This record gives sequence, structure tokens and C-alpha cells, in this order.
Amino acid sequence: MELSTSPRKAQALEKVSVLVVLVLLGLSVVDGQRPRVWDYFEYSAISCRAHSAFLTDFGGVGDGTTLNTEAFKAAITHLSQFDSEGGSQLFVPPGRWLTGSFNLTSHFTLYLHRDAVLLASQDINEWPVVDPLPSYGRGRDTTGGRYISLIFGTNLTDVVVTGDNGTIDGQGALWWDKFHNRELQYTRPYLIEIMFSENIQISNLTLVNSPSWNVHPVYSSNIIVQGITILAPVRSPNTDGINPDSCINTRIEDCYIVSGDDCIAVKSGWDEYGITFGMPTKQLVIRRLTCISPTSAVIALGSEMSGGIQDVRAEDILAIDSESGVRIKTAIGRGGYVKDIYVRGMTMKTMKWAFWMTGNYGSHPDENYDPNALPVIQNINYRDMVAENVTMAARLEGIPGDPFMGICISNVTIELEKKAKKLTWNCSDISGISSGVVPLPCELLPDQGPENAVECNFPTESLPIENVEAQMCSSRSKYF
Ligand SMILES: *[C@@H]1O[C@H](CO)[C@@H](O)[C@H](O)[C@H]1NC(C)=O
Ligand SMILES: *[C@@H]1O[C@H](CO)[C@@H](O)[C@H](O)[C@H]1NC(C)=O
Ligand SMILES: *[C@@H]1O[C@H](CO)[C@@H](O)[C@H](O)[C@H]1NC(C)=O
Ligand SMILES: *[C@@H]1O[C@H](CO)[C@@H](O)[C@H](O)[C@H]1NC(C)=O
Ligand SMILES: *[C@@H]1O[C@H](CO)[C@@H](O)[C@H](O)[C@H]1NC(C)=O
Ligand SMILES: *[C@@H]1O[C@H](CO)[C@@H](O)[C@H](O)[C@H]1NC(C)=O
Ligand SMILES: *[C@@H]1O[C@H](CO)[C@@H](O)[C@H](O)[C@H]1NC(C)=O
Repeated sequence: MELSTSPRKAQALEKVSVLVVLVLLGLSVVDGQRPRVWDYFEYSAISCRAHSAFLTDFGGVGDGTTLNTEAFKAAITHLSQFDSEGGSQLFVPPGRWLTGSFNLTSHFTLYLHRDAVLLASQDINEWPVVDPLPSYGRGRDTTGGRYISLIFGTNLTDVVVTGDNGTIDGQGALWWDKFHNRELQYTRPYLIEIMFSENIQISNLTLVNSPSWNVHPVYSSNIIVQGITILAPVRSPNTDGINPDSCINTRIEDCYIVSGDDCIAVKSGWDEYGITFGMPTKQLVIRRLTCISPTSAVIALGSEMSGGIQDVRAEDILAIDSESGVRIKTAIGRGGYVKDIYVRGMTMKTMKWAFWMTGNYGSHPDENYDPNALPVIQNINYRDMVAENVTMAARLEGIPGDPFMGICISNVTIELEKKAKKLTWNCSDISGISSGVVPLPCELLPDQGPENAVECNFPTESLPIENVEAQMCSSRSKYF
């Protein structure tokens, strides 16, 4: 990935892309009996490709009922031969493309037309079972293995999954029912999982009805997730939006997420498995996010955080009808740490708790966790926020004998709902300071007074992933 710092060039590119989108709209032609011709694309990506193909070149049929798993496999196997010859891109034309799981390759772009819908197969035999993640020791739903994700990649470099807001539909209802009825033999699949990889872009797509988590980069670095719309019923189980897990240098921006679980859940492995694996999530940027999550958090840190979570910077967040804004979840036995967390510029409307921290989350992979493995929670900074219609300002519960330290909250105004609890801040086993916070926080976060007003920290130097510049890629190809 090229690292560069040229904001002017990026702005120029944005203008070009708007123009091109306008031109593109006129180019999908339906001409009598002839199949549609779709011949010019332009999109922004971390790298462009020399070779192109259409799914239809490999027998793909977009009628919503023909299974396309073999077409995807054949296409990607064929295109993988170009990985050292400028890379390749696979275009998915307008249509409804039923498919089982398939694997990505390196130096590769999967591009979905705005009218393309990938439909996840409802036949469980189409879903190979793979090993549990080494940092979890077991699947999240069941012990043992897990159904592979719909779009999966491992040990890759330079992969783009994008589209002009094309759709991936997980058809998750079948899986949610199996989960509720305890009929699952293995852990439910995710929509997109990229493992042990680097230089990844996932952008401009709509993901609907995932069986479980939506986007799961794990053990990876240099990841951009941008312009993703995620929609799932707000009561669907574990439909987390984007879960960076043991990942370094990640940027998540311009996403709109409505889901039945956390919109963003930052993770790094579970109890003794995560401690042994020892791979943190760090250098994570989250910005311009809109989240609706009535049963969960806008940004959750944990509960699986045993490899550590460090240097998370979140800003420009709009939270609507969610349980909590930022939520740190951990437990005795997790070990690891959550430190150097910075959040600013968050607007919250209708929340149960603006802030929630708990050291009492429980949820262990098995009984072999180490009761002496205590998590370290340190240097947590929240500032410049407004919240309205909140039931309780904050519930901050550290661990007795292992307090959460260095909490700083400044310039935050929380308007409580009419029927709000009398106790607005419920704090235990924490320490820190506050400044300019309404209502006045608990005694464990003493207000510094107007003379000693504090602005909680937010780093001024950017992370490397913030300076990665996209290129405009274009292609003229036809399919008949
Ligand atoms: C996503 O779409 C927007 C608007 O159409 C465009 O400006 C942006 O460049 C696209 N981003 C990527 C990474 O494709
Ligand atoms: C994808 O890769 C995984 C792990 O390498 C493998 O288990 C699975 O069978 C592959 N899937 C397909 C469709 O080839
Ligand atoms: C992928 O990379 C991991 C970590 O480097 C390694 O343990 C694993 O064997 C690799 N898998 C494959 C299929 O190459
Ligand atoms: C993408 O599609 C979704 C679902 O139809 C829609 O809500 C969203 O506004 C679209 N995004 C863009 C950038 O067009
Ligand atoms: C306080 O936060 C608001 C956003 O909620 C922001 O507009 C304002 O500039 C902040 N004030 C200071 C002094 O930083
Ligand atoms: C305030 O929150 C309550 C739930 O606590 C909700 O029922 C009500 O509709 C909200 N009011 C507004 C004005 O959003
Ligand atoms: C305050 O938090 C403690 C746990 O730290 C809990 O037991 C108690 O019920 C809470 N009180 C209220 C009023 O929510």
C-alpha cells in the first residue's frame, strides 16, 4: 500500500469520482432481447488491476435460484494466476446471485454492481466447517468449529471488496431461528471474514441480514472499511456490524449501521486462548459513524480483549436509540488491557447509558480461565459530547482490587429523560477526573472546577492508515 500525504490530490479525486458516477448512470443499456451491456466502471481503491472478468464468463446465472458457488470458485481460481501480473478484478453484474461460501485471493478486487445482490445459500451443506479461531479456543455459539464466512480470505495481501453500493444478503433468518432453538451444530457464519492478511479495503456495499457478525477482519493489518451500510433487525442475535479483532492499523469511516448487537465491537481474543495468542487490536480510527443499536453499544471494547486493545480514536459519531454509547466490557480471567482510548464528538439520542464500563461481564470459553488474569483498563478519554433522553448517565463498574484508572470525561452534557433514575452516575472501583460535565459525575471522577478546567486528551498526530490514499481505477469491459 502506498503511503502518502496529499489532501489536495484526494480532494481532486473526489470531484472526479462524482463526475464519473454521473456518466456511469447512463451506461447500463437494456436493448430489446439482448442482455444488458455494462461496460465502464470507475471506483476508488488502494490499488487498481490489470485483468478483469465477469462472473458470467464462468457460468454465473443471476436468477436468484441457480447456485453460483462453483462460478465464483472457478472465476477466482482463474484470476488468481494474475496476482504477480498486475492483479485482477471480478465484476458481478446486475442480478440476484445465490451462492455458498467462496474464498478471495491476493491482488484481487471483487466489485458488485449497484443492482447486484449476493444471496447467501440457505443450504447448510454449502457451508464448510473450519477450525475455531486460535485466540478464542472455540466458536462463539458452540464449542468446536464454525461455519466458514460467506466471503472468506486468509493469508492474503492487497484485497478489495467493493461496489457501487451493491448488496450482500446473508438471509440470516434461518440461522437466527436455529440459534434461538439451540439447533446449531457449529458457530454461525459471518458475511465477510479476512484473516492473517494485510492491505484490505471493504467499501461501498450494503450488507443485510447477516447470520451473525457482518465484517470480521482478524489477525490482519492495514484495513480500510468505508461507506458500508449494514442493516439487520434490531432483535436479531449477534448481528454485530464491524468487528476488528487482533488487527493493527484500521480505519472505519462513513458507515451507517442498524443492528441487533454492537455497531462496532473491538476485540482481541478470549481468556486463556487470547492471552496465549497475544495479538492486540491497536491503532484503530472510527469516524463518521451513524449507529442504531437498541440492545447494545455504538462502540464496544471487548468483551473478548485478552490480547489487548490500545490506541482507539473515535470521532463524529451519531448514536440513535442505542443501549450505550461507548461500552467497555471485561471480566476476571480475561487478562489483557484496554488503554489509550479517545472518543470525541459524539451525539446521542435516546440511550439507556451514555457510558458503560463493566468488569463483571463473565462469559468464559470454558472453566480453564485463570482467575488471577486481571484486565488493565487505563487512560480512557471521552469529550465534547451531547446526549438527550438518557435513562442513566453512566454505569462505571471496575473490578474490586483492580480499578479502572485514568478515566477522563470533559465537556459532556447529558440530558436525562423525564423518568430517569435518581442515581445518575453509578461508579465503583474506578478513578479519574471530569471537567464541565452535566450532570455532575460521581465522586470517583471529581470535577476539576472552572479554574482548572481540563480538556481530555485526543492525539493530534495521525495514524499511518489515515494517510493511505485511494486511486481511481477504471475499466472498459463488456459482457453479453
Ligand atoms: C464510495 O462512494 C462514494 C460516493 O459514491 C465515493 O465518493 C467514494 O469514493 C467511494 N469510496 C470507495 C472507497 O469506493
Ligand atoms: C476456503 O479456504 C478455507 C481455509 O483455507 C477452506 O477450508 C475452504 O474449504 C475454502 N473454501 C472453498 C470454497 O474453497
Ligand atoms: C497463514 O498465516 C498464519 C500466520 O502466519 C500461519 O500460521 C498459517 O499456517 C498460514 N496459513 C496458510 C494456509 O498458509
Ligand atoms: C446504499 O443502499 C442502502 C440500502 O438501500 C441505502 O440505505 C444507502 O443510502 C445507499 N448508499 C448510498 C451511498 O447510495
Ligand atoms: C464542547 O463540545 C461541543 C460538542 O458537543 C463542541 O461543539 C464545543 O466546541 C466543545 N467546547 C469546547 C470548549 O471544546
Ligand atoms: C425517550 O426514551 C424513551 C425510552 O427510554 C422512549 O420511549 C421515548 O420515545 C424517547 N423520547 C424521545 C422524544 O425520543
Ligand atoms: C450500581 O452498580 C452496582 C454494581 O456496581 C449495582 O449492584 C447496583 O444495582 C447499581 N445501582 C443502580 C441504582 O443501578
